[in-house]
Amino acid sequence: MNIEKRFFDTFSIGPDLIAAAPGRVNIIGEHIDYSQGYVLPFAIQDRTYAAVRKRDDNLVRIASLQRKSVVHTYNLEEIRPPMKRGWENYALGVIWALGIDQYITHGVDILIDGQVPLGAGLSSSAALECSVGLGLNTLFDLDHSLEALARIAQSAENDFVGMPCGIMDQSVSLMAKAGFALLLDCRDLTTSHIPFDLAANGLELLVVDTRAHHALVDGGYAARRADCESVARKLGVDSLRDLSMEQIVTQKEKLTEIELIRARHGITEMARVLDSVTALKESNFEQLGRLINLSHASLKDDYAVSCPELDLVVETAQAAGALGARMVGGGFGGSAIALVRAGLAELTSIAIREAFAKSGLKAPRFFPSLPSQGAQII
Ligand code: GLA
Repeated sequence: MNIEKRFFDTFSIGPDLIAAAPGRVNIIGEHIDYSQGYVLPFAIQDRTYAAVRKRDDNLVRIASLQRKSVVHTYNLEEIRPPMKRGWENYALGVIWALGIDQYITHGVDILIDGQVPLGAGLSSSAALECSVGLGLNTLFDLDHSLEALARIAQSAENDFVGMPCGIMDQSVSLMAKAGFALLLDCRDLTTSHIPFDLAANGLELLVVDTRAHHALVDGGYAARRADCESVARKLGVDSLRDLSMEQIVTQKEKLTEIELIRARHGITEMARVLDSVTALKESNFEQLGRLINLSHASLKDDYAVSCPELDLVVETAQAAGALGARMVGGGFGGSAIALVRAGLAELTSIAIREAFAKSGLKAPRFFPSLPSQGAQII
């Protein structure tokens, strides 16, 4: 395999093993993983590969095929936050979160081949963390469960990289099964695999990368999360998961107006996920489409994390006859999905391309989306 040869070219020795972890698309359940809600993502086919080798000394050397194989070198002892910003922090963060001294007792060579599109909101960072996490877990015989690895990867991102993400992306990257969507309870990481065979039902899920990235991405995400946590604190519960709309409305004088509408998104979105699972089990795709549309409206109007490019994809797809369309991931750019009848997929893509051209926007990118297998040693 190519990465094996490139590992040899980079480090003059072969790797001990190669791990691969996919990106994700979320069908529904947005911005509620950090409120301990349910989410319903699946793994995409694109994945990130991490070839790793244990060293005899305490050096950590990291390179990426996407960065002209520049080798970054560290001593294990110097790997602790905060570190200078760079893509390699996601991998260093995993080493740190796994436990230097106690568990990561030797240096390692790591070569990354990241095939998950960057900046498209398809979780390339979780794919990177999880490929490195699974690779080192195996290399050092650490025996962590997939749930534990998901929490370690999240800690790398929260505590090392400094992005306060939830647990959805890492969990689905590690736990997804081909052909299924993953119903994940973000409170305890219990899962169930929900059959998601669109082709058998004459449907397709278009994934459209708007190629827009708005400056709000990091600060906006942290602010939304802080609003939800503030609501929970003020109302004396752990998270939005413990609240109903009725409880919010009857205690609304304790909340700011913004907190009230942010909480409304979180609580209604959690219900939409469970309703979507019911719809999927009944093969009621019209209903799934309606819930997807409602999710977008809530993310746009109550949660305010959409942007004109995402709205344009959604509105154009809906006008072209999509059953449902919405933004996915953190928002302020990135990708949207559209659930369409297979016969209309081409026309819908053309309509979206034309709408972007007419608005003077960069041409969007389209990705295929077959629910794929989670992380593996290959
Ligand atoms: C990003 C985060 C996830 C999740 C989504 C929004 O992808 O990494 O944890 O919060 O945004 O649903």
